[in-house]
Amino acid sequence: MKIGLMGTGLMGQAMARTLFAADVSIMAYNRTLEKLDPLKQEGIEIADSPSALVSSCDCIILMLADATAIKDVLLSSETAKQLSGRTIIQMGTIAPRESQQLQEQITAQGCDYLEAPVLGSVPQAQSGSLQVMVGGTQQQFDQWQDLLSHLGKPFLVGAVGKATTLKLALNQLIVSLTGAFSLSLSFVQQEGVDVETFMEVLRGSALYAPTFDKKLKRMVNEDYSNPNFPTKHLLKDTRLFLEEAKSEGLTVSSLQGMETVLEAAFDLGLADEDYAALFEVIKSHKN
Ligand SMILES: NC(=O)c1ccc[n+]([C@@H]2O[C@H](COP(=O)([O-])OP(=O)(O)OC[C@H]3O[C@@H](n4cnc5c(N)ncnc54)[C@H](OP(=O)(O)O)[C@@H]3O)[C@@H](O)[C@H]2O)c1
Repeated sequence: MKIGLMGTGLMGQAMARTLFAADVSIMAYNRTLEKLDPLKQEGIEIADSPSALVSSCDCIILMLADATAIKDVLLSSETAKQLSGRTIIQMGTIAPRESQQLQEQITAQGCDYLEAPVLGSVPQAQSGSLQVMVGGTQQQFDQWQDLLSHLGKPFLVGAVGKATTLKLALNQLIVSLTGAFSLSLSFVQQEGVDVETFMEVLRGSALYAPTFDKKLKRMVNEDYSNPNFPTKHLLKDTRLFLEEAKSEGLTVSSLQGMETVLEAAFDLGLADEDYAALFEVIKSHKN
């Protein structure tokens, strides 16, 4: 069985290597073909177009930026014609409604569809320790569990739409926790409290989350280069969450505040930097 991987950005590239190292027969495609060169040199088979990938593979994993990218790549007439009899596993972060709409469009072509968004970033994709949230049927889960296990631990969450919902709920925590931590960190810095003392007290308390230590160094050093998860994708996910949560009648004003912070980070030219860059917006700009 041949597995295709569409989208070799930060995550897709790491996932392709992990699957290849696990002896999965894999072929990769990326819109910017030059990004495939390192994978080709490592022995991974490359497709030069989406339709070449789909026609050669039984199952295609999507690790693309968003739903627009998926439609651009997969639902053009030439590629859509090749979908019949295949399975699409959508692993990027999109909205539940977008995933359900894709399911309709893709199954109409005689192709199976399930979603499997992930928690974890590039290091977890490299070590095969992602948390893989599957939206689909028990039968689909049983069929694809072994493949997904190479990338991490699969959980069957429910029907298509449920796993993307869970993924957005978790990413809401990423943005809210990072925003809350940034505000306290910049407050103690500004007031002249020792940052290590702040961290020691925090680490010993129920308020601590491991993500604080993961982002501390970047924030203190104001170094957001070589991102694993860029600001632009966190803004995308924040907006997806806001849209869904508003339609469910939730009060989202705290997260709307973080949307504004992320937008300001964009304006500072930090869209492609690590999302810890939202600290640049929150920190004091007094002299
Ligand atoms: N990075 C993380 O830690 C992480 C963790 C969990 C989930 N995710 C999610 O997983 C997805 C991929 O993340 P990533 O970090 O790998 O993103 P990325 O590095 O920005 O890669 C995005 C991929 O999508 C492709 N793409 C974008 N627009 C396209 C279009 N219109 N047509 C065709 N291809 C297009 C890009 O192709 P080009 O190379 O040609 O631009 C690239 O292959 C996103 O939904 C993200 O939110 C990311």
